[in-house]
Amino acid sequence: MNIQENHDLKSLNSFGLPARARYFCTLDDLGHTVRLRDWQAQHPELPLLFLGGGSNLLFVGDFPGLVVQVRLESLEILEGDSNYNYIRAGAGNNWHRFVRWTIDQGFAGLENLSLIPGTVGAAPMQNIGAYGVELKDCLQSVRAVDWRNGEVRDFSREDCRFGYRDSSFKSVEPDRWLILSVTFALPREPRWKTDYADLRELLEGKALNARVISEAVIALRRSKLPDPAQIGNAGSFFKNPMVSAEQWQTLKAANPAMPGWPQPDGGVKTSAGWLIDQCGWKGRREGDAGTYSKHALVLVNHGNATGAEVWRFAQGIIASVQERFGIRLEPEPRVIGG
Ligand code: EPU
Repeated sequence: MNIQENHDLKSLNSFGLPARARYFCTLDDLGHTVRLRDWQAQHPELPLLFLGGGSNLLFVGDFPGLVVQVRLESLEILEGDSNYNYIRAGAGNNWHRFVRWTIDQGFAGLENLSLIPGTVGAAPMQNIGAYGVELKDCLQSVRAVDWRNGEVRDFSREDCRFGYRDSSFKSVEPDRWLILSVTFALPREPRWKTDYADLRELLEGKALNARVISEAVIALRRSKLPDPAQIGNAGSFFKNPMVSAEQWQTLKAANPAMPGWPQPDGGVKTSAGWLIDQCGWKGRREGDAGTYSKHALVLVNHGNATGAEVWRFAQGIIASVQERFGIRLEPEPRVIGG
């Protein structure tokens, strides 16, 4: 275990933002957790940040503590039952490579989540989702270390308290749990989810299987969303906001084209991308911070933006949408040092 000082984080965050960690190390082996906790006990004043693929973070400044990059990359096919195949994947596996590996093994269930940036261990944090599927639909359990006492615990799906882009790891106890692995329950008889209009259109007339759906999802994402390897970004920068039924009626009357999806709790989820687009921010740029030309919900770093610049740009969007629609947008990525 090698703890480095003043480590550059630019290549470790998908926004490509300049930031440094006062201390940095990688976690390649489970045995490291004990030594790492010992080291940290000697530096109790230092904040801690567990890093996966760095695809859901906005570094507004340097990180004054220890950044731990999780690189546990095991893959195990566990004993299945009549309904499910079970797979346990180490937290450090790249998410998309893992999805493609499950498809290569003949498993199904994760195809709609193809090409989402990040790692397996980061996926439960915000219950990643796309095209009608969320991680929680295929998740069996999460294994994590309690950083307070070093104990390893298995969380059932219920224990994780998943919500829309949310979990207990993210909102209830951030930085308490280091996720080690995720176990997936992949159905032996999958029910394909192809209701999302653009996906249905791409799959028209095709015989459905996990690979065909995955290819269509990849094509769709490539057509709408920027590749972080080409242009820095963290996917959707804001959550799609929820409004009450009353507020929805007023908004819809004033804006007939506003998209909205009624929720089980009676509220309505509307589209952050649409709201931002309507306020004239799509493709806009201030310095090297901007929104993607094909999708207003994705903030991008055109090259040399700082986190502070991206964050200021985001504040401008929040203020515009608040003023015009009375809706407060909430960032999806974790803002570090803001
Ligand atoms: N829209 C616009 N202008 C834009 C972008 C979108 O008007 O510039 C409107 C369109 O009406 C469109 C609607 O917004 O029909 C919804 O857009 P889209 O289908 O692209 O989905 P989204 O709600 O913007 C969500 C997720 C994405 C996920 C897609 C597909 C959130 C915050 N984002 O985006 O997830 O890929 O649905 O399921 O829930 C991510 O979280 O990083 C992410 C990319």
